[in-house]
Amino acid sequence: MGQRHSGAPAIMTGTPANTSPARGLHVITWGCQMNVYDSARMGDVLRPLGYQPVATPDAADMIILNTCHIRDKAAEKVFSELGRLRKIKEARETAGQQTIIAVAGCVAQAEGQEILARAPYVDIVLGPQTYHRLPEMVARAARAGGAVIETDFPAEQKFDFLPEAEAPQTAGNYTAFLTIQEGCDKFCSFCVVPYTRGAESSRPVLSVLAEARRMVESGVKDISLLGQNVNAYHGEGPDGSTWGLAQLAYELAKLPGLSRIRYMTSHPRDMDDALIAAHRDLPQLMPFLHLPVQAGSDRILRAMNRGHTADEYRDIVRRLREARPDLALSSDFIVGHPGETDEDFEATMHLVRDVGFALAYSFKYSPRPGTPAAGAGMQVPEDVKDARLQALQALLREQQDAFNATLVGKTIPVLFTSEGRKPGQIAGRSPWLQPVHVSGPKHLIGKELPVRIVERLTNSLSGVLEEECVSA
Ligand code: 5AD
Ligand code: SF4
Repeated sequence: MGQRHSGAPAIMTGTPANTSPARGLHVITWGCQMNVYDSARMGDVLRPLGYQPVATPDAADMIILNTCHIRDKAAEKVFSELGRLRKIKEARETAGQQTIIAVAGCVAQAEGQEILARAPYVDIVLGPQTYHRLPEMVARAARAGGAVIETDFPAEQKFDFLPEAEAPQTAGNYTAFLTIQEGCDKFCSFCVVPYTRGAESSRPVLSVLAEARRMVESGVKDISLLGQNVNAYHGEGPDGSTWGLAQLAYELAKLPGLSRIRYMTSHPRDMDDALIAAHRDLPQLMPFLHLPVQAGSDRILRAMNRGHTADEYRDIVRRLREARPDLALSSDFIVGHPGETDEDFEATMHLVRDVGFALAYSFKYSPRPGTPAAGAGMQVPEDVKDARLQALQALLREQQDAFNATLVGKTIPVLFTSEGRKPGQIAGRSPWLQPVHVSGPKHLIGKELPVRIVERLTNSLSGVLEEECVSA
């Protein structure tokens, strides 16, 4: 698993507009929440150099393409986007405006040399561990006019060299992402993350707490702690001892005003007793956990090098639900891993039926060059993968609808984060992350209020503010 790297649907964002900056910066972000966080931090690093966000690439003196390599045709997608950016760069340079193109993220890490060979108009290629060195790279690129590549895993920790985040890494101002851990040493057979994001490493506790405190002071109420293996967190504590994620969560829960704490993505192997106990003890720890299982057959789990069986996963889920009865789960699945038979796939369907997921992301296995599974025999034919994916997604959709239906008629806390799509509406998030719409005044945005859910829509819920229910 890794990001929402693990599993989340691809996110595409541009930077918001700003008025006549000294230098325009446009960041295009693909992939997981970790990349969204990284893009924001790259903006922070470049701010002292006079770079401010602009909404379109043709207004930008620097364009960063922050890439994702987890699945599908990552490299081709990057080259096709670079072709588009090249035209913009050429048009701007004809008008006498220099434009720096940087490729960041996991494709840059994996295919840096290939990018420079095939797209020589790219000025900077930087891997996820080196964006604190961006200012120096920009200076070198501007001076030399030659391409700069930084994809080594540096000895220093980038978090020690980054300026403080100027604004929370948020969609609105009430929810934020905070990266606390990066990389992965688990080497699942199918996954590029250990190669692109490097070895597992954790930020020190004080640095995480300081960033969380700044976020909360600026109004954030819901923090998602990010990491490819977030529950493998082992940060250095203030006293020199090593803190796990549970200990960090207890400390964060003391921050007044922080009402919601989440973390993703977790690995079943690191779901220890202390963390399960934290779910029992901390109301702030949201009852919604992304815990990828990938498959339900022990044979395939072994081939995947996951380090747990299907029953061990069932047992973790049982203990989590004992600790926190309203806990709902989301997960990632891969169908068609090399060697997967019909019987193996049935075991995945069986596990899904046993556990019941509120949400899940499922993918056809796609071979990643350099990973063990890519070279394995018994690759599964594409049409078989298609059929299995369809069957699995139908079951998961049913479960998602069933979960959302259980909320109809219940009153749940909703953190309002924005105006709704229709006039007079405001929108927010449930503890289980579904979008919730109600009729209500704008001044309630930023508040967490009880809402009675009245209807389940395809991917969201609609409700009424409880106060209104009472007075009606
Ligand atoms: N093919 C298909 N899916 C993959 N994932 C990771 N690598 C691959 C691959 N090679 C999925 C896993 C992971 C999620 C982020 O992406 O399910 O948890
Ligand atoms: Fe997750 Fe396995 Fe990839 Fe590590 S190697 S990020 S545990 S899927």
